Amino acid sequence: MIYYIGADHAGIAIKTFVKELFEDRGHEVIDLGPFNTNRVDYPDFAAKVCEAVLKNEDTKGILICGTGLGMSMSANKFDGIRAALCHNTFSASMAREHNDANVLCLGERVSGYGTVESIVDAWNNSEFQGGRHAGRVDKINKLGSCRI
Ligand code: RB5
Repeated sequence: MIYYIGADHAGIAIKTFVKELFEDRGHEVIDLGPFNTNRVDYPDFAAKVCEAVLKNEDTKGILICGTGLGMSMSANKFDGIRAALCHNTFSASMAREHNDANVLCLGERVSGYGTVESIVDAWNNSEFQGGRHAGRVDKINKLGSCRI
């Protein structure tokens, strides 16, 4: 699997850590920045990662900010992105198994290194189960074009 990864200044330390974890588990990780600790705006990096995931088949994304909230809110604006903010292993497994999440969001100020490693393992060891979940994911995807 190819993963695109991005962060803001509040997620940049965990970005490097997570990139290495995914690479250790056999994935290719393409880092879309930032590459220094200058302050940046998380929607800009959420957009870079989500656009890359949507343009390239069979890829997924990882987004990290201070809480993971801004990244998940931004990513879920993109039609076709199912971004899951995970602070624990159960959420990470369910995000893959039930929701077929294609972007993992993490909060560097919320989850420490050990927790992040266990979240990454839970994510990697879980597959979408399809079945009754598939119709619900289709319904999520159709909401992407809802406007009121
Ligand atoms: C940056 O200070 C912080 O607001 C951002 O990283 C994130 O936590 C927003 O959701």
